[in-house]
Amino acid sequence: MVGLNTLFQGKVSADEFLKKYWPNHPLIHQAPIGRLDSILSIPEFQSLEVLVDSYKRPISTWNRDGKMTREVKGREAIQLYRKGWTIYMAKVDRFIPGIGPVLRRLEKDLGLRWGAGFCNAFASKAGTGASPHFDYAWGFSVQLRGTKTWYFSKNTSVVNPTTGGAIGIAPGDDDSRHYAPPSYPKKMPKPALVQKIGPGGVVFNPRGWWHRTVTHQDSFAIDLEMDPRPWADYALNELRRLLFQREEWRACPLGIRGSEKHQASIQRHAKNLMNQLPMLVKNIDFDSVWSQAMGLPENLDFRWRFKKDRKAKAILKSNKKPGSWIIEIRHPETGRTKLKIVDRELLSLWNWLEEREGNFTGDQLLEAAAPASAAAIEEVIRFFLEPQYLRRIRADGERD
Ligand SMILES: [Fe+2]
Repeated sequence: MVGLNTLFQGKVSADEFLKKYWPNHPLIHQAPIGRLDSILSIPEFQSLEVLVDSYKRPISTWNRDGKMTREVKGREAIQLYRKGWTIYMAKVDRFIPGIGPVLRRLEKDLGLRWGAGFCNAFASKAGTGASPHFDYAWGFSVQLRGTKTWYFSKNTSVVNPTTGGAIGIAPGDDDSRHYAPPSYPKKMPKPALVQKIGPGGVVFNPRGWWHRTVTHQDSFAIDLEMDPRPWADYALNELRRLLFQREEWRACPLGIRGSEKHQASIQRHAKNLMNQLPMLVKNIDFDSVWSQAMGLPENLDFRWRFKKDRKAKAILKSNKKPGSWIIEIRHPETGRTKLKIVDRELLSLWNWLEEREGNFTGDQLLEAAAPASAAAIEEVIRFFLEPQYLRRIRADGERD
């Protein structure tokens, strides 16, 4: 399986990469493409036609000077590509199960939460390129076809950005206005790193670094991206949960635009509510913040082990509608339950579970379901738990 060691084979080991480059220093590495065979052999990455056919969302495209943009579907993107437009498909991993294990492996190598990774795909014609910008996520760009030069410059305007930015453009009307300067530089600062790559080249594009590219030959690259979800998000999710448990926090500021007298009374009420906050913050459930930060589906808390209930029977049937399956569970006590699954990759979880004897950890379960999204896994695990096909066992052996 492709991981850090394979991406930078011949340059740095995974340990050296983590010490010298991760998370803040760009690295460009050229090595023979043979080491990336398991990515290259994914059918969607061998042909643009197969890729656009599998991608069930609008495809972003822009013309040579980047002034015209269009969102199109499927083969229409190929027609534009032939006319010199660049095509960009965000989060192709939703439709390409084969890339899931690579993302999960990279997350693990980098010590990031489960599910942080996603994959974008770019096809561009010779003579085009990306204008100077920075991204909010870390990227590992894998050049599969064609040649391209990358330019990197340090960004002195922002640290840990939560959205991307572009040279000469003011930060957008988003979270960046709370921490970024009123405008970004008019010119890309002097590059700290420039290198041309061809097939097999891998580029580590750190969060926030300015970069631009120039494409020399028709190019196809995938970007293995790692989403840097901030601590603030986890804390806010938990605080929202705490506040929503209380009816006064679910209430709406009624009459806030009413008479002055009424407004004064609402203000007093609002101040009282805000004064409660420090006390509520003390009640934040650290375990819940921690499991969110680990990226584990709620039912896969790492403190649990799982076991199949021998009394339960589960069968897999193909559905009338192609591309979907039905799992049926029969349990003498809980009756019969059915679930339709449409994610092909969840079948690997089903097969793995079928063969399981004895108990196993949440981590093993996650690994078996690796390509699927956390939300899809969450749904399936819940389906197995509710009719007691699966049971949770605590570390001390006691049942849930
Ligand atoms: Fe970028």
